[in-house]
Amino acid sequence: MTATINTTNPSILLGIETSCDETAAAVVAGPNKVLSSVISSQVDIHARYGGVVPEIASRAHVEMLTPVVAQAVVEAGIKESDIEAVAATAGPGLIGALLVGVSAAKSLALVWDVPFVAVNHLEAHLYSSFLEEPELELPVVILLVSGGHTLLVLMEAFGQYRLLGQTLDDAAGEAFDKVARFMGLGYPGGPVIDRLAITGNPEAVAFPRPMYDNGYNFSFSGLKTAVVNYVRKHADLDVADVAASFQQAVTDVLIHKARTAAQQYGAKGLCLSGGVAANSLLRERLLDACTADGINGFLPSRSMCTDNAAMVAAAGWHRLALEGPSPLDTGADPNLALPFLNN
Ligand code: KG4
Ligand code: ZN
Repeated sequence: MTATINTTNPSILLGIETSCDETAAAVVAGPNKVLSSVISSQVDIHARYGGVVPEIASRAHVEMLTPVVAQAVVEAGIKESDIEAVAATAGPGLIGALLVGVSAAKSLALVWDVPFVAVNHLEAHLYSSFLEEPELELPVVILLVSGGHTLLVLMEAFGQYRLLGQTLDDAAGEAFDKVARFMGLGYPGGPVIDRLAITGNPEAVAFPRPMYDNGYNFSFSGLKTAVVNYVRKHADLDVADVAASFQQAVTDVLIHKARTAAQQYGAKGLCLSGGVAANSLLRERLLDACTADGINGFLPSRSMCTDNAAMVAAAGWHRLALEGPSPLDTGADPNLALPFLNN
């Protein structure tokens, strides 16, 4: 007897994520029940270069993807034949890295005779909160802050997003990484600055708050330059004070804009996603702001904030429900755009 495959609402999806420097696979049941989520980070491989080296990333994905997928299936306690669809990040990201995941996902979908679904990495991040808080009420404002992106999005319904603002230059995580690199603190910079800031004085240096009261777009390049100039001029500086003052400036802007957007659009909740969502001060201040404003604040766990494949499977489930499978000639696109209602 052959199993019936429900192509629009499959109950078990395999997700694959290889857009940057994490090789990840996950098995998710329905839109949000995570059965397994395996992440093999390349961060140690790239650390000696001070950033992600695209060619090295692609090669590491080729090496790690098969064992990572196998581990995700085993940890989920399922058989390969239980998988009803395969979702993979098709962009945006590093082209060589994306191609590894997309090619593997299409091959697996062909071999298993199940649908393939191409997922936008940014859309995947928008679903990370729902994996742990499926009952989140819409509309929600989502602040997506990573090494490559800084976006403020209003999710009105599944598949319906309004872009409220984005960075005009550096992403928030990029600013953390560049400031840390300049100060010789290593890579990635976010976690180091977060740790150092605990003992620093956030009021020690009055760094600028770029575009604070100027709409929902962001700009972090000038703030980064202000820190670099300060460090150049002050040989006797206290590193912890600089880290704390920089982090305070970034979070002031992020929280102010996210909070104002949630109020303006009558959002029921405010969520974080992306690697910078792991920042302790940002997490604490977001919850405080939500409590003060009487809305739901939701912070995905750190493993769901950073790149993972469970969010890819979740976005894949919704894409399949809304549009059905992607053709097998769908390619990887390093600049893949997310269609916003207002664009
Ligand atoms: O989402 P992610 O893992 O990868 C992409 O960029 O897609 O985000 C990585 C970024 C890096 O810039 C890193 O410095 C930043 O997230 N990050 C943090 C923290 N942990 C990671 N930034 C601030 N505070 C942290 N605790
Ligand atoms: Zn990401």
